[in-house]
Amino acid sequence: MKHRQNSGFPRHFLWGAATASHQVEGGNHNQWTVWELENAKTKAAQAEYQLHDYPTWDKVKAEAKTPDNYVSGDLGDHYHRYKEDFEYLEKMNMNAYRFSIEWSRVEPEEGVWNSEAIAHYKEYLSELHRRNIEPVVTLLHFTLPVWFAEKGGFEKRSNIAYFVRYADKIMTELGNSVRFIITINEPEVYGFESYYLQNWPPNKASLYKMWRVSANQATAHRKAAKTLHEINRRYKVGIAKNTTYFFAGDNAWLSQLSATIFQYFQDDYFIKKYIRHCDFLGVNYYQSQRVFGYRIFNSEKADYSDVDWMLAPSDIEYALERLGSKYKKPLMITENGLADAEDAYREWWIKETIIGMQKALKKNVDLIGYFHWSLLDNFEWAYGKWPRFGLVAIDYKTGKRTLRPSAVWFGRVLKKLRS
Ligand code: BGC
Repeated sequence: MKHRQNSGFPRHFLWGAATASHQVEGGNHNQWTVWELENAKTKAAQAEYQLHDYPTWDKVKAEAKTPDNYVSGDLGDHYHRYKEDFEYLEKMNMNAYRFSIEWSRVEPEEGVWNSEAIAHYKEYLSELHRRNIEPVVTLLHFTLPVWFAEKGGFEKRSNIAYFVRYADKIMTELGNSVRFIITINEPEVYGFESYYLQNWPPNKASLYKMWRVSANQATAHRKAAKTLHEINRRYKVGIAKNTTYFFAGDNAWLSQLSATIFQYFQDDYFIKKYIRHCDFLGVNYYQSQRVFGYRIFNSEKADYSDVDWMLAPSDIEYALERLGSKYKKPLMITENGLADAEDAYREWWIKETIIGMQKALKKNVDLIGYFHWSLLDNFEWAYGKWPRFGLVAIDYKTGKRTLRPSAVWFGRVLKKLRS
């Protein structure tokens, strides 16, 4: 067993926070920004119909009904203010940070590499190293260069080569300053939102396309992982997989069976395509869902986040145990957190999560890190800017950053846990 501290966490455990390029950088041009400009007015007009039964509707309706909410624009301008933002990692006594490279900046046109963007990410990494912060780099977090999307994105098998070429180019440039690489963030969520729910670009409802995209992304991961290992044998390559913990709300056989089936199609159906080509598995855990019969029901007893997700932080223990024993690879919690503008639940959430992780570690789950989502308030995809996931709050009008009280508390806890 690895050397453990009194807290039960391994000595070199990664404690950090996560972001993704499009959600914090500002000033991007990719398939999402095109989509945002085309759809902002419609989204604002539909907000009441879609969100009126959310617990926070009264508080967010002014923002949610405004087209500007659905346009990422400059956001908090993290692209230029990253040094200031990294100071918060240090203030919270963190030793790790997960972020994504924006492919559309690095390769704005097919085969044209933007040396300024590459130099930016090099400098970004050096800044983390200067602060002794271990980077975890994501290569694809939902956004695509416009030219790649216009060629059909991951719908076409022949396009996989473009992604592998980008992975090769950027990691050859960034080189040995990185150990952990995530090729693709939440492949299943991307397919489901874009090709089934039609919440995201390219907004095509096609089960066939969803299936193709899923198959092509798995191949893209496999090929990219091979290429990355050729660049450096010591790279640890993985994916970040979202997991909702499904549980039966009663003892009825149908509820038990449905929970198992939901869990399978959400997790295993995807993970089994990737796991042989992963050195570790990233886990994004946000919520549990209660199944009665063959349907999911909200629980009246539970609390809900601002985006109406059931808050069950301690269930992370079961999610970790299940994935750890089934796949036998090191696990890294690559995202975990909640939309909580008033910071009412965050401290409690983190406390319960730490206890859940300690319990999983006691049962010998090989857990190597925890990344809170998110370091900063950010652009929450189809919801736009109103959901507030950040440990650091951002006033989008002035750009002013403020550490939320729960984050101040988390920083004190980390000091103790890491001592
Ligand atoms: C995604 C993030 C997103 C978060 C909260 C994850 O599914 O990777 O981009 O902001 O969940 O919804």
